[in-house]
Amino acid sequence: MAKTKIAVLVSGGGTNLQALIDAQGSVLSSGEIALVVSNARGAYALERAKKAGIATETVLKKECGSQEAFETRLMEILDANGIQVIILAGFMTILTERFTAHYPKRILNVHPSLIPAFCGEGFYGLKVHEEALKYGVKVTGATVHFVNEIPDGGEIIAQKAVYIEEGDTPETLQRRVMEQAEWILLPQAAEKICAALVK
Ligand code: GAR
Repeated sequence: MAKTKIAVLVSGGGTNLQALIDAQGSVLSSGEIALVVSNARGAYALERAKKAGIATETVLKKECGSQEAFETRLMEILDANGIQVIILAGFMTILTERFTAHYPKRILNVHPSLIPAFCGEGFYGLKVHEEALKYGVKVTGATVHFVNEIPDGGEIIAQKAVYIEEGDTPETLQRRVMEQAEWILLPQAAEKICAALVK
């Protein structure tokens, strides 16, 4: 049976990409990562992809000249590779409706909080955990959702709660949310969406 072709879009360390790579053939059995695209040169995620034998591309907004040209280039690459599902895994740039409308219910994002808390424009990476600690919430977590034109506003696919512990720093909290929620939730959600597309 043909597997659903996935592209993972990254910007940095790529631990969520690694979780997806490691899940291939087990939790993630209906999809295969065909391509990893980075919007940052030298992202460690690219090394992870190369080690796993996955094709990579780097597309820099600065080199494209505009958001529109950047998104056009991304779409060209994704469509030329027959990509069916796009996973944003630490992809730190906002995509406009022009891009998201091209792949309705085909783009997933992992966000390190329980949406609708601590999300939207400006909430990414460590900043999300800084804000959760500053607010004093006792429970946070991660969310996997479909991506539409509203930042972190698409339909929720899965969520998992993580408790805040005494003495947490943004760094310790980020790590625990990754270990207890993101790395588990993202492959499971990817499988759910890919399985539905397998012919
Ligand atoms: C992850 O915690 C991910 O949820 C977050 O950035 C980190 C990337 O880590 N994404 C966002 O904040 C998106 N709004 P990774 O590169 O090691 O997967």
